[in-house]
Amino acid sequence: MEHITHVAGLRLTLDSFRRDGKRIVVVPTMGNLHAGHIHLVEHARDHGDIVVCTIFVNPMQFGRDEDLDSYPRTLTADMEKLRAAGCDVLFSPSVHEIYPEGLDDHTVVSVPRISERHCGASRPGHFAGVSTVVSKLFNLVQPQVAVFGLKDYQQLMVIRKMVTDLCMPVGLVGVPTQREADGLALSSRNGYLTPEQRRIAPALYRTLQDARNRVLQGEEFATVEAAAIRCLTEAGFRPDYFHISHAETLEPAEPGDRHLVILAAAWMGSTRLIDNIEILLS
Ligand code: PAJ
Repeated sequence: MEHITHVAGLRLTLDSFRRDGKRIVVVPTMGNLHAGHIHLVEHARDHGDIVVCTIFVNPMQFGRDEDLDSYPRTLTADMEKLRAAGCDVLFSPSVHEIYPEGLDDHTVVSVPRISERHCGASRPGHFAGVSTVVSKLFNLVQPQVAVFGLKDYQQLMVIRKMVTDLCMPVGLVGVPTQREADGLALSSRNGYLTPEQRRIAPALYRTLQDARNRVLQGEEFATVEAAAIRCLTEAGFRPDYFHISHAETLEPAEPGDRHLVILAAAWMGSTRLIDNIEILLS
């Protein structure tokens, strides 16, 4: 695996792969890699010849009060995992390399509407930070395909709209969420949980599964959402939102919609967990 930290080196290396006719696939991450990330890297192999993983803790997508400084940085361990997974190129630039002039006057790519709901409402500016850095990474890597996890369902839909609206020549692949045996979605932020919080945390996914069953049985969306909020609160969460939505627009689901997604975010102590579940109605 080639480890590159500078833009110039990345361009040189990837240009030479492109000249040889290789198809390039990118897996953008913020590092602290777990089995969910590694699954994306393995999946990427099926979509091209050269798998590029990026590790960059992007300051633009963190709010002022969020965990930018404490976000786990584990480059040495990450490199071992990527090597074992058969990654070809790791690009792990510094903040200065990506934002040489700082963040304040930087161009921002912002995707309207779909970015403003759900996590976008609780984390203003978050998705603008994500779409900006992902555009930059796409311009730097110029991949044919980019692989993202469905764990961050709204993120993938925001990027999908950005790619469509800006005519970016990148195919997007969404990979199902990898979970612990008890259902908890793998996440770098699970490491913040105390043992007691970790014991309770799988209730988030159980509540999503229960809500899906209720929707499949024809219960009204508002009733299901309210019951889920109660259930999460009783389990020890502080729910942020629990929204039954149209799976593509992420607008509130309406009777008659066939493809739905339930998006949820809830605080466990000072850790904010997100998860989702799709529903296909026949
Ligand atoms: P990060 O949280 O590191 O996630 C990187 C990729 O891994 C994302 O596509 C995310 O959806 C996927 N992922 C995380 N947990 C997963 C799981 N349990 N199962 C499957 N996939 C999982 O998402 C980001 O970084 C950043 O916002 C980024 C896109 C890199 C832009 O900075």
